Amino acid sequence: MSKQRAGLFIAFEGGDGAGKSTQAARLAEALEARGLTVLRTREPGGTPIGEKLRSLVLDHGHGHIDAHTEALIFAASRAAHATQVIRPALDRGEVVLTDRYIDSSVAYQGAGRALGQDAVRSLNEWATSGLQPHLTVLLDVDPAMGRRRRTAGHAAEDRLESEADEFHIRIRDAFRELARRRPESYLVLPAHLSVSELSARILERVESLLASQQDAADASVSQVPAIGGGL
Ligand code: TYD
Repeated sequence: MSKQRAGLFIAFEGGDGAGKSTQAARLAEALEARGLTVLRTREPGGTPIGEKLRSLVLDHGHGHIDAHTEALIFAASRAAHATQVIRPALDRGEVVLTDRYIDSSVAYQGAGRALGQDAVRSLNEWATSGLQPHLTVLLDVDPAMGRRRRTAGHAAEDRLESEADEFHIRIRDAFRELARRRPESYLVLPAHLSVSELSARILERVESLLASQQDAADASVSQVPAIGGGL
């Protein structure tokens, strides 16, 4: 008896310039090569309204945005993303890789903007009806290195990226603390490792997650009694 695969939800988190999108792209490629259907997405964004909210909150030129408004814009983008994109893909049994999720708001708005991590988490749990990743890959980047990487030879920094170093240090500490509290749901890797070393370690962890999902599915199938085979 075969059963549809359960979906797998993986978030990539970390400071700006950590290399999240490179790693998400490499993981997507590796999983697709194994025959899995992968949806790559990002926050803020991932839906038409989310992309509009993204430019509202990240671009310079919309005037001052206070911290509460900023947190609500990220949460609004995430609500649309969770409902319209992530849950449906998981229901179809796909692997969803998102570049940032709730932890980004907890770190940037909760710690960086000092709105309070618990308040920001509650807001976002409400916005997503409690949808949590199975695994969060945290690429832990030294803020100075992150800034060097993202300013190396290209575009100007966005509204959040251009904040002072202290802001980025608070964010890094918050991400690390989130991972420290729930180690079973995180893979923390130093962002200065080589691209291929990082992708090998991420793939190894994801393969073990897929294997345990498969074991759980096999166990539940073997518990279904055969037709007419009751007591
Ligand atoms: P990101 O897409 O990673 O930037 P880029 O595409 O330039 O690499 O994230 C955009 C910025 O938004 C980043 O500085 C982090 C910030 N952010 C928050 O402050 N809160 C959030 O909830 C999210 C999702 C992002």
